[in-house]
Amino acid sequence: MIRIESFSFTYEGEKAPALEDITLRVEEGGFAGIIGPAGAGKTTLARAVSGIIPHHYPGDYYGRILVGGLDPVDTSLTDLSRIVGMVFQDVESQIVSSVVEDELLYGLENFGVPHEEIPERLETALRQAGIENLRERSIASLSGGQRQKVAIASIIALRPRVLILDEPTGELDPVSSRQIFAMLKTLNEAYGITVIVIEQKIMLLSEFARQLIVLSRGKIAYQGPAREVLSHADELLQLGVNCPRVARLSMLLSERLGKPLPVCVNLDESEAQVRGCLHD
Ligand SMILES: Nc1ncnc2c1ncn2[C@@H]1O[C@H](COP(=O)(O)OP(=O)(O)OP(=O)(O)O)[C@@H](O)[C@H]1O
Ligand SMILES: [Mg+2]
Repeated sequence: MIRIESFSFTYEGEKAPALEDITLRVEEGGFAGIIGPAGAGKTTLARAVSGIIPHHYPGDYYGRILVGGLDPVDTSLTDLSRIVGMVFQDVESQIVSSVVEDELLYGLENFGVPHEEIPERLETALRQAGIENLRERSIASLSGGQRQKVAIASIIALRPRVLILDEPTGELDPVSSRQIFAMLKTLNEAYGITVIVIEQKIMLLSEFARQLIVLSRGKIAYQGPAREVLSHADELLQLGVNCPRVARLSMLLSERLGKPLPVCVNLDESEAQVRGCLHD
């Protein structure tokens, strides 16, 4: 679905590249997580995949990106919006309307969706996002988590095959953060949307994302299945990325018992592993 080959990008007027020699793939139907310290290049990567780079941010562009077979460099943003939708880091700046329904209509009308398709698209997007009950609410009356869901719904109304979210839970409490991830899981599993999420909450990310990409200073430090990446806990910590406690516990147990153990990515797995070790 997404192929990036030796991609490097330097923002116009900057000396140092924001991204350097990035090569990665995300398969159709995948759920990938991007993590890394501040300034690592996470947002830049999301902009490049969604085409905002180079369309809105010029600069030195090397290598190649293909999204659903299209090269963002020579595809218009309107055409790209049918393949890939991006939910920005600052979600408030993305929301333009004062009522939920209008927010979805705004996108549908602006991206040239045929008029007769609009009512069905609106209802489907509200249902997929699980916010039918918010349809007539004013945006001002919504919680942070609900606003995030509205922003996501207005993007999925355009029916992209890939959804990229830039720190969607940055402003949210743990309960709302988990709800957003549960919603992304549904979009991924029930509706087949490929999900790429930039996230600092490593525990949530490693529980939901099947593929992890760790960025550090514009380069890929690690990438692969979540379990494999998390087995580099010490190295990740040096890059400024914390490993979930359940993963560290697996490694500690493995060291103490002197035998290899799989790295756990959630509490259920961890509990089963600890019980197993106690019984041995
Ligand atoms: N519009 C821009 N113009 C020039 N340089 C930029 C621009 N946006 C980002 N950069 C630079 O590119 C590098 C990567 O920034 P980016 O925003 O992609 O990092 P990030 O990993 O998303 O960080 P954060 O965790 O703070 O969101 C940084 O050095 C940043 O200063
Ligand atoms: Mg960012």
